[in-house]
Amino acid sequence: MCGIVGYIGVKEKKEILLDGLQELEYRGYDSAGIAIIENSQLKHFKAVGKLENLREKTKNYSSSGFGVSIGHTRWATHGKPTELNAHPHLGEFSFVVHNGIIENYQELKEELESDGINFLSQTDTETIVHLFEKYYNKSKEPFISFTNTINRLQGAYALLLITEAEPDVIFFAKNGSPMLIGFNKDEIYFASSDTPIIGKATEVYYLEDGEYGYAKNGEVTLFNKNGEKGFVKKALTTNKAMAQKDGFRFFMEKEIYEQSQVINDTMIGRVLDKEIDFEELNSDFFNGISNIKICACGTSYHSALAGSYLLERVAKIPCQVEIASEFRYKEPLLQKNTLFITISQSGETADTLEALKMAKRAGLRSLSVCNVDNSSIVRESDRAILTRAGIEKGVASTKAFATQTMVLWLLTLYIAQIKKTISKEELDSELKAIRKTPKALIVTDKLHDKIHRLSKRYLHGHGFFFIGRDLFFPLALEGALKLKEISYLHAEGYPAGEMKHGPIALADSELFTIALMPKSLHYEKIKSNVEELSARDATILAISPEPFELSDDFIQTHYKSHPMLEFFEMMVITQLLALEISIRLGNDVDMPRNLAKSVTVE
Ligand code: G6P
Repeated sequence: MCGIVGYIGVKEKKEILLDGLQELEYRGYDSAGIAIIENSQLKHFKAVGKLENLREKTKNYSSSGFGVSIGHTRWATHGKPTELNAHPHLGEFSFVVHNGIIENYQELKEELESDGINFLSQTDTETIVHLFEKYYNKSKEPFISFTNTINRLQGAYALLLITEAEPDVIFFAKNGSPMLIGFNKDEIYFASSDTPIIGKATEVYYLEDGEYGYAKNGEVTLFNKNGEKGFVKKALTTNKAMAQKDGFRFFMEKEIYEQSQVINDTMIGRVLDKEIDFEELNSDFFNGISNIKICACGTSYHSALAGSYLLERVAKIPCQVEIASEFRYKEPLLQKNTLFITISQSGETADTLEALKMAKRAGLRSLSVCNVDNSSIVRESDRAILTRAGIEKGVASTKAFATQTMVLWLLTLYIAQIKKTISKEELDSELKAIRKTPKALIVTDKLHDKIHRLSKRYLHGHGFFFIGRDLFFPLALEGALKLKEISYLHAEGYPAGEMKHGPIALADSELFTIALMPKSLHYEKIKSNVEELSARDATILAISPEPFELSDDFIQTHYKSHPMLEFFEMMVITQLLALEISIRLGNDVDMPRNLAKSVTVE
């Protein structure tokens, strides 16, 4: 999740780059940088932290006349957020900005180092600029050198390169990460999404994977693996709000669709070939720890609950989860062998922050799982793992929940590796399942359409029960919370086995039961629980890979090999159901009444 901007033209370049990066700051904001060539002179600036730091650093600089320029805002994947690791990365006479990950960078780096090249940063990106210069020093042909360079890269990238060897050109390439080109007369823009260029460019071309080329003299020359190719520009929207939503009706909808992509970001650098690694952690951090307590609020609390099942089952470590506002006043007994984990999307939730401070006062080691770097909770914790979901705008949390749960799954395996509670074979099969998760999160048109059609039958009734067992109980809680947050209908999440101890008294045809029936975890048990409800005439929407003849409505899922894959697939379905019901009811999906995205009061 990094953001890229580029510009060729006669306008003041610094402001174009900084304004563009501002629009992309949601994609990452741990450091930023710009590089400009004008009058054959290279200038560059970098700053750690938010973009305002770069603004401050460049306040006395302004560019004039024709030139080429590139900028980047970073969300650290390889290497810490330092100025050296910030983009643009420089060689002897060229600069590159890159979004994505070069998977074979180690191999390339070793090759370049054996040629005597010194690397300044810990990033994968720096290999690109050195590789380009290596080829250029041999051939003296900038575009051939650029082509040779990208032919060597494996992985995902959107990248821009400028060089004193050809100072009026921007070279570009895209594979797996987003990038577009904007046009306005003789000016050419590049960006990771529409928003930085709206109001500046009038036409746009969205690059496809495998495309690369160069921009020069107001023209773009485009290539793919078959050689040079033509392309058709489209008119660029002038509506920024719409562009930010990438054409979706609501941010929540966009964020549901984004999950498949952002979960990759959560996994980058952590899911290795044969193990899980966290650069934020080391095994010493867990010395003397024999217990875990997790504190959180709202959706983050549900993710914590799901994590506790994994931590106990796989990492064999006792784990209790507490709602932060309860924890604060219960006079909890805290022991030093407990690792205190807080989970928070915003990192600013007052109750969670206070719970963390209490634990710290009691001398506990602390770890936070958070989406916002430098937030209060991150700063207050001994260690922090960022979820890398990108900015979440919909008040009803979706991608934050998915990425938090993924982090907890990875953390479980990390601890299991340290404690040796997992065999090599089991770990391999977990890693295999993790790698399938992005696919399990894809929203197909068929699925969305089905949920859209189904939703019209669920706009009334005297209540919803989302039921599930084991890991699917927290998911039932989260499904019910999503629905009530944005539809204002009454919904409860319940452990399926507990229905008979009271709530089943409510069962009649106006009671809607959303039954989460995974195949890989206690299928027969949950089936009996749903049968009990069906016998009392409750209306049942079953979500399962197995057809269930007693349900009134049925959504068939595809994964049944691993509970977490079933979990993520069903999570998307419950999110879409809440979304579609809310839209039909005419509610403001992104800003539901009475709620706030970040609750910084007790
Ligand atoms: C608010 C939001 C919820 C969120 C909760 C915890 O209530 O509306 O969506 O789950 O706070 O927020 P946090 O930022 O700590 O995850």
